[in-house]
Amino acid sequence: MIKKAIESFKKGEIVLIFDDDNRERETDMIIAAEFMTPQHMTTIRNDAGGLVCVPISAENSDKLGIPFMTDVMDAASGEYPVLGELTPNDIPYDEKSAFSITVNHRKTFTGITDNDRACTIKELGLMCKNGNFQDFGKYFRAPGHVTLLRSTEGHVLKRKGHTEMSIALAEMAGTTQVAVCCEMMDDETGGSMNTDKVAEYAKKNDLVFLSGAELIEAYHEFKGI
Ligand code: 5RP
Ligand code: CA
Ligand code: ZN
Repeated sequence: MIKKAIESFKKGEIVLIFDDDNRERETDMIIAAEFMTPQHMTTIRNDAGGLVCVPISAENSDKLGIPFMTDVMDAASGEYPVLGELTPNDIPYDEKSAFSITVNHRKTFTGITDNDRACTIKELGLMCKNGNFQDFGKYFRAPGHVTLLRSTEGHVLKRKGHTEMSIALAEMAGTTQVAVCCEMMDDETGGSMNTDKVAEYAKKNDLVFLSGAELIEAYHEFKGI
């Protein structure tokens, strides 16, 4: 399954990844950002329905200069004490979140339409692919409608979130280490889509559905560790 996942990801297709029964118990739709299209965005919005985010490797995040949102809040808490009170020290499924800042490409209008969000995501992927990190502020504005996620350094070897799994998949596929992820929600239950329903969706739409355990094991093999 991992081979098929890598092939799909390389072609710009959607890959479905379930993290773990001991974590969020969520499946995210994941795509390489450089291949993002408005059609992908429509599918993600209608069939996944969660928050559309852009996982970025630690290296690319450093080159762009983007912080964890918690670091921004800490830095600003002197002037705005409530930001200190809001510290997310009680996340039930992990030690910390991957949230960074939100952005829109400067050529978007509101930033939220499928065309606009696909534009922001694809342009960010291409900016990192082409190494034009110094142009980030020239071409993007913040806040925006696309949430950036900072991957932990060493990604799945250090944290096992969809953020890190997206970057591990990109590394194995040899694509730019910027992706898109969005949680699959269930309209009937109001919860996350369970793995049986995800498997059905994957079959119907000819998509690869992979567990985090399989992806992480494959990454260890890839690195020879
Ligand atoms: C942003 C999230 C999602 O769970 C997303 O999958 C990234 O987070 P994580 O790396 O914690 O899995 O919280 O919508
Ligand atoms: Ca999360
Ligand atoms: Zn997640």
